Parts: sequence; structure tokens; C-alpha cells
Amino acid sequence: MKASAPGKVILFGEHAVVYGRHAVVTAINLRCYAEALKSSTFRIESPIATTSLDFEKHPYVSYAIKRFMEVKPIDGVKIKIESEIPIASGLGSSAAVTVAVLKALDAEFDAGLSDEELFELARKVELDVQGRGSGTDPFVSTYGGAWLIPERKPLDLGEFRMLIVNSGEESITSEMVAKVARLRDELGDVVERIFDVIDTISLKAFAGEGEISRLMAVNQCMLKAIGVSTKRIDEIVEELEGLGIAAKITGAGGGGSVVGVGSDEALQRAAKLFSGIIVEPEREGARVED
Ligand code: MEV
Repeated sequence: MKASAPGKVILFGEHAVVYGRHAVVTAINLRCYAEALKSSTFRIESPIATTSLDFEKHPYVSYAIKRFMEVKPIDGVKIKIESEIPIASGLGSSAAVTVAVLKALDAEFDAGLSDEELFELARKVELDVQGRGSGTDPFVSTYGGAWLIPERKPLDLGEFRMLIVNSGEESITSEMVAKVARLRDELGDVVERIFDVIDTISLKAFAGEGEISRLMAVNQCMLKAIGVSTKRIDEIVEELEGLGIAAKITGAGGGGSVVGVGSDEALQRAAKLFSGIIVEPEREGARVED
């Protein structure tokens, strides 16, 4: 059976959400597809490599299979992955592949998992691989839609277009989360206060108070303050500002993508100049494909 799950954009609140603060996040119209076929051996085929269970090359898929086997023991499975979501780009490709694989396994082996059970398994996989995480990415990939986290209050973004510009540098979530944790150990309250500012930004954005572009600009400054921006990202953000687009890191940073908002005209122009893509909110979460 084939299943899919969407990627995501964190509009506000990454990193702070790991420490219990609020984030505003939306699923996006880029999906990861996973096919699961009963087999007597384990085989994982993806654009990265073809392997057996391999916790180095295919950590998310391998842990997803391992966690699924705790619910329903299986002798083997062939998994095939195809994804529209660029890897290590801050767009939730790891959570989407995890959720898509779990959904495909659920369908192929008739495990009857509810969405919440699927999310719980994906959350465990995130922790297996990353060691720490808020669960935001697996949540939004499972359920789709836009949300205020951690309360899971739904948000209707309506017609909302976002520009995504890839910095060309890899964003490794586990490394960035560990980097922020080290800074927090070192500076304590200083970092806590920055998280509080980010928290207020997320709440204001959710409530529709204050201009989204200004809130984005301040959130980006806070992300720079906690050390997850890069020279290239700072340049992209500044150049986008010059084109009338407010932008910030989306996801863990240290590379990955920048998300920008502005008029449709400005977004189109910037998309051409930066080889960016324009994405939209996605309502549907994990689903079985025909
Ligand atoms: C990664 O997409 C978002 C982070 O806040 C980590 C997490 O929430 O688990 C950096």
C-alpha cells in the first residue's frame, strides 16, 4: 500500500517550542510518498540509497519500522520512498517520511492505527533519532492543517502563499537543537528570555495582532541571537527585505530554508531571483494513496 504525508513550515516559534513555548506551524503542499509491500526480508529504497534496515543511512525509516513492529510484529517489508520535500531543508522531510512510512505500514499490515497512535509512534521515532524534539513536525505531518502548538488550536490561514528559499546549506535538526541546548546551559535566563519573546510573537501572530511581516523580522533576530542563523541566511533575509518580503528561518536553521511573506507580485519576483518555491497551506495530513 502507498501512503503520503505533508511537509511543514514553522511560521513562528522554532526552538522555543522545544522548551514549552508556543509555535505557529502549517502543513504545506509538498508531500513524501511511501510504499510498503509485505516481504520476507527488509528492504528500503529511497533517493539516498537502497539498504536493509539501516539506522545510519535510513534512520527515520528504520526506526519507523522498528517502532511499528512493537505494535505489529512483521517478518519483513519492502519500502519505497519518493519525496517532493527537499531533505535537510527545514521543511519537515524527516517527520513526513516517518509518518508516510508508518501510514503505509499500517495500511499494508492492517494494524488499525488511529491518527493519534500514528503520531505517538512518529514522535517516538523523532526522539529515537534526534534525542530531543517538541513533536511539532510529526504532529503537523500526521494531521495536516495549521496550528498553534502546544495547545493544538487550529488556525485558518485561508489563501496564504509563502516563499521558500533554500540557503543551499544543510539544516541538521539534532545538531541545531543540541547547539541551542548548550547556549541555554551556558546563559540560562538570557536564553529563557529570548524564548519568552518568541513565545509572545507566536501568540500575537495567532491572535492576528501586529503585522505578520514585523513579527517575522523580530523572530528572525531572536533566532540569530540563539545562534541558528548563518551568514548566507542573513544575506538572503536582507535581500528579500529589499524586495518587500519579510523573511525568517523556518525549522531548525544552521542552513535549510527561509520562509518569506509579501505581496503575490513580490513573491513571484523573488521566487525567480532566488530559485525559490511558492508553497501553500495543506489541510490534509497522512493519507493512503490509491
Ligand atoms: C524543527 O523543525 C523545529 C525545532 O523547533 C525542533 C522541534 O521542535 O523539535 C527546531
